[in-house]
Amino acid sequence: MVFDLEMIKKVYAQFPGRVEAARKIVGRPLTLTEKILYAHLWQGDATHSFERGKSYVDFAPDRVAMQDATAQMALLQFMQAGRNKVAVPSTVHCDHLIVAKDNSVTDLQRAVNESSEVYDFLASVSNKYGIGFWKPGAGIIHQVVLENYAFPGGMMIGTDSHTVNAGGLGMIAIGVGGADACDVMSGLAWELKMPKLIGIKLTGKLSGWTAPKDVILKVAGILTVKGGTGAVVEYFGEGAVAMSCTGKGTICNMGAEIGATTSTFGYDDSMSRYLKATGRDEVAALADGIRQHLNGDPEVYADPEKYFDQVIEINLSELEPHLNGPFTPDLATPLSKMKEEAAKNGWPTKIEVGLIGSCTNSSYEDISRSVSLAKQVANKGLTLKSEFTITPGSEQVRYTIERDGFLNVFQEIGATVFANACGPCIGMWERVGAEKQERNTIVHSFNRNFAKRADGNPNTLAFVGSPELVTALAIAGDLNFNPITDTLINNKGEKVKLDPPTGDELPPKGFSVDDPGYQAPAEDGSGVKVIVDPTSKRLQLLDPFAPWEGTDLKGLKLLIKAKGKCTTDHISMAGPWLKFRGHLDNISNNLLIGAVNFYNEKTDNVKNQLTGEYGPVPATQRAYKAAGVGTIVVGDENYGEGSSREHAAMEPRHLGVRAVLVKSFARIHETNLKKQGMLALTFADKSDYDKIREDDSIDIDGLTTFLPNKPLELVLHHKDGTSETILANHSYNEQQIEWFKEGAALNIIRRQFAK
Ligand code: F3S
Repeated sequence: MVFDLEMIKKVYAQFPGRVEAARKIVGRPLTLTEKILYAHLWQGDATHSFERGKSYVDFAPDRVAMQDATAQMALLQFMQAGRNKVAVPSTVHCDHLIVAKDNSVTDLQRAVNESSEVYDFLASVSNKYGIGFWKPGAGIIHQVVLENYAFPGGMMIGTDSHTVNAGGLGMIAIGVGGADACDVMSGLAWELKMPKLIGIKLTGKLSGWTAPKDVILKVAGILTVKGGTGAVVEYFGEGAVAMSCTGKGTICNMGAEIGATTSTFGYDDSMSRYLKATGRDEVAALADGIRQHLNGDPEVYADPEKYFDQVIEINLSELEPHLNGPFTPDLATPLSKMKEEAAKNGWPTKIEVGLIGSCTNSSYEDISRSVSLAKQVANKGLTLKSEFTITPGSEQVRYTIERDGFLNVFQEIGATVFANACGPCIGMWERVGAEKQERNTIVHSFNRNFAKRADGNPNTLAFVGSPELVTALAIAGDLNFNPITDTLINNKGEKVKLDPPTGDELPPKGFSVDDPGYQAPAEDGSGVKVIVDPTSKRLQLLDPFAPWEGTDLKGLKLLIKAKGKCTTDHISMAGPWLKFRGHLDNISNNLLIGAVNFYNEKTDNVKNQLTGEYGPVPATQRAYKAAGVGTIVVGDENYGEGSSREHAAMEPRHLGVRAVLVKSFARIHETNLKKQGMLALTFADKSDYDKIREDDSIDIDGLTTFLPNKPLELVLHHKDGTSETILANHSYNEQQIEWFKEGAALNIIRRQFAK
């Protein structure tokens, strides 16, 4: 047993009492989200209610999960915290560093050879500090968490934005930066603004070509990439109950794409079945014991408008399959409209590659439904028209689908099976010919489709769909193909139609696995040595950031005014840079290289005000740092959307950027900046963005009286000798102001444990 049953028993023992206390305090029936949140207050029983969207709350999460790319920095920070052991059950998952190229065996071995230094570091730190370690090849963090650790009513944080996947098993699971993980592993409270609530009522039932993925693709179209910001999305209704647990996981997974804090579902029989199928009968029995507390109160679902900030209703019986993209996951196109949209937008309709799997869609159900289509290739005399790849989510799924003959079926039609890892989903895909940067179309069942995300080619148009639709499109090789209405021509020249996909929610013969790839930590890790070679290019022990100098910041040079979308991929690119995630100085060489410079519309090309010359962003920033000149980064809306990587905050901090001033922030990135001692500011008047000029020097005044809810003043000194003053808002509370003053949140933790 890899999960901590005693911890779950404790959570469930106090759950009913805490819910009751919260109901009394709040004075009305509660949603499921509120029950879980109030049951995890750091203080214990609720003594007052919290205002949604306003109050900061201290929580006590039950678990922490980390993937290898973010775990390096999280654990390097934890090593600075001064503790002997993690305070809550925690795990590390090696999934992000495996390049998909040839096949699972070759690719895995290559990754082990290339990244052994990082894997050894993570294994030894895990062993020393009581952290469960999942080796490379064991699977993708969110699938492994769903199979082993997620439990209804639990609360988890994870250093990956798709941690939210565990909502499929009724958790409140939230993606955070490594600094937050470090806090919780150190035994400190975890702070979050009390989220708003979006209720999504699912009526009807999925059938035919429509899959759970289409629910979230539809929701993304409605809410857009920002619509869930600051909110938890709670799904309910007969349509939710009728759906598999892993299908719920898919929906919650992509809640990250609408910016939601997390998403969740009430406990039901599908969850009980999944818990039992994955060897957790005891957890199912415990959850059954408090079932009514693991759902919202009946009054809530009878009159949802009264209890949620926003309610959306989707009739699953009428829902069409969707394809979202290209370049953004909220551009939702129902399948029946694709032909028209593709023609209108000039999207290339020849599909080069179809990719299924990833943490979003590699359940047994997903694969069995896709295989029902793959079987029709041979049975109906068809030939696969696109390249086709499968990335299983875990060794348990891979082993089981191999045992049940599914992998064979895929391989017989010419598909490639990649390692149980992120691979193409995170740009770890050595796609042949991508360097030619040709305009082309791919379809995948992953979650994100930002430019360059999968193969580094800015001209690859990636469309997101359900695995069954991706399989059908790969068979047809045509983006315009609608399997509901269209026929294909087979090898004999006959017209054939694909039958709708069918599959099993869970393996009829149960899951099997030979070696799941798990290393339990040492009981007493005090003797375990953690070695970091000082000459390593991949790992670097951290030095604390310097505290604030106690004065206003004068004469900051504008490093870049970023135009339009600036995600964490633009700020700290993934793909080839993933290998430097444990080495702050080396990875800082990718700082903002994907951001578009407002003044020349180019990426990685900004003016050095000291020389007047244009050059790459990281080199320019290093020049400012060498000259002892602080800088400021200016950005547009939803700056830092995307992943939870704190590198996007640590890199500018390390290289001497002092403030980031934007129209609006994505939540995780804003918190990450604060944790690292940066100033995260927003324009009080968004049109002031237009006042920032390329040669500006900027003063930030008001820091000596830095207080919550009190705007700061920025003086823009233009090159022509004029100046103007603008106001910048911030969302720092008192604690977060201390982080800024001390130089970083971690500096405060270290001091506490040093006492
Ligand atoms: Fe990995 Fe992609 Fe999921 S990067 S964790 S498979 S979102």
